[in-house]
Amino acid sequence: MKLLFPTFPLLLLFISSTTAQSPAASPAPPGPTNVTAILEKAGQFTTFIRLLQNTKVADQINTQLNNSNQGGLTIFAPTDSSFSNLKPGMLNSFSDQQKVELIQFHVLPTVFSPSQFQTASNPLRTQAGGSQGSFPLNVTTSGNQVNITTGVTNATVANTIYTDSQLAVYQVDQVLLPLSFFTTPAPAPAPSKPKKAARSADSQSGSDDTPADSSGAIFLSKKTVHITAFVMLVLATFP
Ligand SMILES: *[C@@H]1O[C@H](CO)[C@@H](O)[C@H](O)[C@H]1NC(C)=O
Ligand SMILES: *[C@@H]1O[C@H](CO)[C@@H](O)[C@H](O)[C@H]1NC(C)=O
Ligand SMILES: *[C@@H]1O[C@H](CO)[C@@H](O)[C@H](O)[C@H]1NC(C)=O
Ligand SMILES: *[C@@H]1O[C@H](CO)[C@@H](O)[C@H](O)[C@H]1NC(C)=O
Ligand SMILES: *[C@@H]1O[C@H](CO)[C@@H](O)[C@H](O)[C@H]1NC(C)=O
Repeated sequence: MKLLFPTFPLLLLFISSTTAQSPAASPAPPGPTNVTAILEKAGQFTTFIRLLQNTKVADQINTQLNNSNQGGLTIFAPTDSSFSNLKPGMLNSFSDQQKVELIQFHVLPTVFSPSQFQTASNPLRTQAGGSQGSFPLNVTTSGNQVNITTGVTNATVANTIYTDSQLAVYQVDQVLLPLSFFTTPAPAPAPSKPKKAARSADSQSGSDDTPADSSGAIFLSKKTVHITAFVMLVLATFP
């Protein structure tokens, strides 16, 4: 009973000093870089943040950024409006694995300053995998302007959101769709024309902002459906 008395205020003091530490520490060394916090602060990246978290790519990124031995990262962050410009239902049509690849495709395993894009050699490597194969991503520059093409999407770097020696985050005006989502590696003969009726039904609900882009994507996804149907037919015919 007597012992408890002097310890109690000391304990309170200890608790209050430790809880006061976290806000006080933020101006000085900020600790490991937190990509989610950077994007939240910038605003208009709700969908991208949700996908980063659901796919656990945010954790991978934060772990990599906390490991000073790696060469940094570049992130292309599509805005909420670029996600709403996708063909309706497209995002949901991707498998969980494809969602992981989609988000990893927006991350380069090197830090690029805007001027470094001018000398980058295409195709650039992304976290989604080999640049030569399924996930090509090319950049073209003119002065300060940086454009990105994936073979499916043409995008423009609209803004620099964040940059330090390890991380660069750029706002892009389109979701970067990987070419491999719309092609199959099998050399199956693709039908030359998509079905007219199905195509116009899809186009009705397409976006107004990027008509060229979404019709291109619609055409490609129809092609995938046809190829898939063809492969299934072959499999069913020759068990
Ligand atoms: C990163 O920031 C987000 C949002 O501010 C927060 O929810 C999350 O816990 C942070 N992660 C780490 C590892 O600090
Ligand atoms: C960052 O790395 C240090 C040292 O490797 C480790 O102690 C710490 O837990 C890591 N922090 C996070 C948020 O991963
Ligand atoms: C980037 O794309 C825009 C149109 O989206 C075009 O006007 C411009 O010429 C392109 N610039 C480069 C460097 O490719
Ligand atoms: C990307 O660049 C490489 C090398 O210049 C080229 O072979 C390829 O066709 C380009 N791909 C696209 C989609 O522009
Ligand atoms: C992207 O740009 C290339 C070259 O400028 C063009 O041929 C292609 O049709 C464009 N693709 C889309 C989907 O807009």
